[in-house]
Amino acid sequence: FDPKTPQFLTSDPSSFASVSADDRWPVIITGAIDDLARTVNTVSDEEKAKEGKSIIEKLGTLKYELQHDRQLTPLDDDGASDIASYNEELKQRGNPKWHDAPWLYSECYLYRRIETFFSLSKHWKGYDVFARQKMSTFKSSRPAVLELAARYRELAHEAETDKGVDGKSPEQVEQAEKLLFSEMCEICLWGNATDLSLLTSLTYEDIQKLQGSQARQASQKNILVNDLEAAFNAMQTARVEKKNGERRVDIVLDNSGFELFVDLILAGYLLSAGLATTVVLHPKRLPWFVSDVTPKDFSDLLNSMVDPQAFYTAPDDSGKTYPRLSDKEVEDVQFLFQQWSEFHQDGKLIVRPHSFWTTQGCYWRMPHVAPDLFEDLKESELVLFKGDLNYRKLVNDAQWDPTTPFTTAIGPLGPKSGIRVLAFRTCKADVVVGLPAGEDEKLRQLPGGGGSESRKWAWTGKWAVVSFSDGKV
Ligand code: F6P
Ligand code: MG
Repeated sequence: FDPKTPQFLTSDPSSFASVSADDRWPVIITGAIDDLARTVNTVSDEEKAKEGKSIIEKLGTLKYELQHDRQLTPLDDDGASDIASYNEELKQRGNPKWHDAPWLYSECYLYRRIETFFSLSKHWKGYDVFARQKMSTFKSSRPAVLELAARYRELAHEAETDKGVDGKSPEQVEQAEKLLFSEMCEICLWGNATDLSLLTSLTYEDIQKLQGSQARQASQKNILVNDLEAAFNAMQTARVEKKNGERRVDIVLDNSGFELFVDLILAGYLLSAGLATTVVLHPKRLPWFVSDVTPKDFSDLLNSMVDPQAFYTAPDDSGKTYPRLSDKEVEDVQFLFQQWSEFHQDGKLIVRPHSFWTTQGCYWRMPHVAPDLFEDLKESELVLFKGDLNYRKLVNDAQWDPTTPFTTAIGPLGPKSGIRVLAFRTCKADVVVGLPAGEDEKLRQLPGGGGSESRKWAWTGKWAVVSFSDGKV
């Protein structure tokens, strides 16, 4: 079911695939070991502590195998339905070695393998080695969260008092709506620049810089493909044609913490503006690519916002304390919490996990591997895929010519699929499609762009693509 174009491999020294396998993954596994060791130290139940130590050993073995370029071994069967397919594909691919494997497969395998250590345990089922890191990074995005909460509340107030509409012609109103839609989408897009799997190379200060509104404005020119207008028009048409009917938007989530926060900002805006009547969020079933959202991350985020003062001012592990929030800041955050909780309670904001999202393959397989999900997504007016990994999976992480149309590269999810796809992706991997001729070459010539050797410009999250495919026409 996959396209014929070859995929990126961890053996290719010019690709970010090899940097990932050589440098990033060992750091990520070490982080997982440290996290678990910390938790094990606090466990009083001896049996549980012993089992925790044996999982630490398994993580150590995995790291050893990776660093000594051993073969990927079949996953232990933890009873979930995806294991057979992971193992079958591993065999089909000839049991590759870590440093000569398809990047997409081996990276998914890495997280699925880690999950088996916990799912097969007695006392550690559901334990998330990345949870601590996800929460503490969310806490460190406090300045951007407060800035956005204030901005959102101001907009909601304007909408209520009709300040935005007063004295404007219908065209002006639509123009204003379009601008606001773009702003909300750009906030949501750049929230993806700061995922934790890249944190191995970014400091907290770098992250805070990436999250503010000034950074966003400065980054507008870095959106290489911007199909937001086409997406807005499709939703606007749906709003007119199905005025009183259901209009659903789906968000295939990426990272938790700040990115989930901005996804919810966008969801709340779409619902309040009447551009959608329901928003369905698709999290991951298991801890995935370090920072991806699990259902628990969703509830943890909401819980942290019930009492923002307590959350943001609690001293951290090192004893560092934080300044108190002002009354207005607390109210701004609580306003968001209130709105999101109401949407959630009213069934307008729905969380719907599916095991397909943590399978190893690309989304070209969806109609065959997860036909129920494929049919379900056809019910939606717009399916928004967030982030780099979703993008890689949409296009099979294949070595497309960068001028290949997005609609071609997403195969069965493209034209006539019945699914309207919008991808928000800050580039953190080699693959990219839909670029104008000559653009890749130009970017490669920039300092650090990679030259004729590699497509380094696309590795850091500095550049973005917003690509649309109207599968309903
Ligand atoms: O490129 C680095 C990387 O960790 C990839 O392995 C992965 O595709 C991606 O970033 C994760 O980013 P995102 O959270 O945006 O999907
Ligand atoms: Mg992610």
